[in-house]
Amino acid sequence: MTESAEPRTDRAVVVAIDGPAGAGKSTIARLLAQALGLPYLDTGAMYRVVGLLAYRRGIAPPFCDDDLKVLEEIANTSHTELACGANGPVVRVDGEDVTDKIREPEISTMASAVSAVSEVRRALVPVQREMGLRSGGVMEGRDVGSVIFPNADLKIFLTASPNERAQRRTLDLASRGISTTIERVVEEQGQRDHQDSSRPDSPLQVSAGAVVVDTTGMTRDEVVNRLVDELEKRTGSSLDTTGENTVRSRNHGS
Ligand code: DC
Repeated sequence: MTESAEPRTDRAVVVAIDGPAGAGKSTIARLLAQALGLPYLDTGAMYRVVGLLAYRRGIAPPFCDDDLKVLEEIANTSHTELACGANGPVVRVDGEDVTDKIREPEISTMASAVSAVSEVRRALVPVQREMGLRSGGVMEGRDVGSVIFPNADLKIFLTASPNERAQRRTLDLASRGISTTIERVVEEQGQRDHQDSSRPDSPLQVSAGAVVVDTTGMTRDEVVNRLVDELEKRTGSSLDTTGENTVRSRNHGS
């Protein structure tokens, strides 16, 4: 896969966090964004929204040509908003709050299926790149470091053992009122990881220059501190992690 050439312009810091499902990307990306005073940008939520809308239209994989046209239309015309609510991130599509709906197991499976469709990726990637260029941010996904921001200030590949990932995801689902079993989550994650890593377009992979962080047995604070250390090494300066100041990139001369 070729990494797209992203022009390095004067802009705020972008941290790219990629990795498999349940590796703790969302929690860590959110905490890091908060500490650095940067927006938290969840690219997976955008694929989940397309998956939800497709599911509502009765579309299911394997996708036929007509399905692909509908998926492309959904990806190009729906408006996803990633907001910051009092209880955490809020995802809206065309004004509807879908924060919890997009986390349901059927939608996770649909999200993975629609994310393998190049027409969908072609619609979402430019929007994601634009979000990062506008305000910087801690952006999480599967192709942030390889495709969206190959020149991110810091690229992290976050992973953990399959069992720990499944345990975390099960707890996360339970906190949203979705009950399941660890065994089911291990199986679903295995299928999703396989699909996300083996698709021809922008597969999940450790991108060039990414730091691999295995979070098995690490606390959230330990992981966040590790990432702050890595970012400090790259920016060559000590960072304010009170969230008060937006960190500026080296291109600003700071
Ligand atoms: O991070 P997540 O589990 O919410 O992502 C949902 C699906 O979307 C996941 O199966 C892979 C896909 N995805 C992707 O292909 N590229 C991204 N940048 C983010 C997510």
